[in-house]
Amino acid sequence: MARNFVRYKGGFEGFKIIGNFQNKIIFPTWTEFKRNISTTLKTSVRMVAPPSDEESYDPIYNPQGMVNLGTGTNYLMQHEVKARVDKMRIQQLSLDTTDPGQIEKELSEEVANFMTKFFKAPENIQLNEIKLLNNVTAGIDLLGTFLGKPHDVFLCPAPAYSRLFRSCTQYSALEVVPVPLKHNLEAGQYFSLNVSTLERGIEEQTALGKRVRGILVTNPNNPSGEIYGHPLLLEIMELCQRYELHLIISEVYCLSVFDAENQFHSVLQLGSQIPDPDRTHLLWGLTKDLCLTDCHAAVLHSKNKSLMPKLLSSNLFRNILIPEQQFLTLYIRDHEWIINSFLKKKHQRMRRAFYRAKNKMESLGVEVFPSQAGFFLFCNFRKILNPNNEKNSIELFKSLLKNQVYVVPYWEMKCIEPGWFRIVFTAEDHIFDAGFDRIKKTVEEWNDRQRAVYRM
Ligand SMILES: Cc1ncc(COP(=O)(O)O)c(C=O)c1O
Repeated sequence: MARNFVRYKGGFEGFKIIGNFQNKIIFPTWTEFKRNISTTLKTSVRMVAPPSDEESYDPIYNPQGMVNLGTGTNYLMQHEVKARVDKMRIQQLSLDTTDPGQIEKELSEEVANFMTKFFKAPENIQLNEIKLLNNVTAGIDLLGTFLGKPHDVFLCPAPAYSRLFRSCTQYSALEVVPVPLKHNLEAGQYFSLNVSTLERGIEEQTALGKRVRGILVTNPNNPSGEIYGHPLLLEIMELCQRYELHLIISEVYCLSVFDAENQFHSVLQLGSQIPDPDRTHLLWGLTKDLCLTDCHAAVLHSKNKSLMPKLLSSNLFRNILIPEQQFLTLYIRDHEWIINSFLKKKHQRMRRAFYRAKNKMESLGVEVFPSQAGFFLFCNFRKILNPNNEKNSIELFKSLLKNQVYVVPYWEMKCIEPGWFRIVFTAEDHIFDAGFDRIKKTVEEWNDRQRAVYRM
């Protein structure tokens, strides 16, 4: 992870940016950040890279290390995944790349079958509608490359997964512009996605002379875990049709719905009801939903006939490694195991872990978004920050880092409301607890400081 981030040299006084980054964002690693923690945080520093493996907490080998509750991984099924992999005939895998086309075709067939079944598509998904990729981010970048021109705009309701605003557009040079969603906690209203907000976003960008090419929606949402139903999606699709925009829907967490009351419905289920199939594109990653933490694979589904051949031309740079393809073909073939064992256990464990973590955070006076899916507690610290503003949020974030726990602050997700932090609950219990103890310590220190100020 950390290697994806540009590092800076020198102290906070003398930033040197290595690399050519949009918006001149500086990415210190957390160790470098911590080294300079006593220096005032410059507002230009917006991103902190997650801790590397060497920097991360381990109860035996690195008890002083940073607990990473920021990176979106699900460790609740590690034993089952390992047992399943052990059972598979991994010796069948080879490094023979003489017929990569055949290996890719086999995996594409399995993925098409898998998606037809698990996404409940009304008709069988055809091979010429999907393209395998090495990750979801690459899929968005490729769509940007082939659907737009540099500096065209894709709108993305925010808060959203932070990389959507940066690494998704590294090659396409597209701008992903956040459309802030309103919320009013007192009125019980959370960041509500609606068509009028998106339409205002289109008009604002057009007035600025920008060409809006599309809208990017994540369903279930990251970070909030909210599920958007078909009626809303259809309204968004009609909006896109009216403005001739592309709609990219990322369903990265569609098999990670842990709230038994709520059902997720993939956009694929809409079949012929999709108003503009040529401009509707779906992305799904195999990594998150199947808990394959170190395996990088994704799929793009589109009915756009002119897009698919272009995507094929990107094979050299975006392919999944051949042994990984062979592994995945075997792994996703056993639908019976995935439905009756893997997903059942996963959802039970996620439900338990979510409420366990939520109760702990609420015991500190933190409000937690009523999530239904995904790996995150979306937490609001406003009652602790008091007053809830950017300055206090940055101070709290610095204190969390100082106490060795990494979470994702609201500004990385382009959330306009201060006080929000994204905290992963799908860590193993003992890792979550180690992180929670540090969050608790930070909140207690914060409360003590506030009490001391009021006493003065
Ligand atoms: C909504 C969303 N899209 C994309 C990704 C990244 O997926 P990948 O690592 O396959 O690029 C994530 C990862 O957390 C995500 O939450």
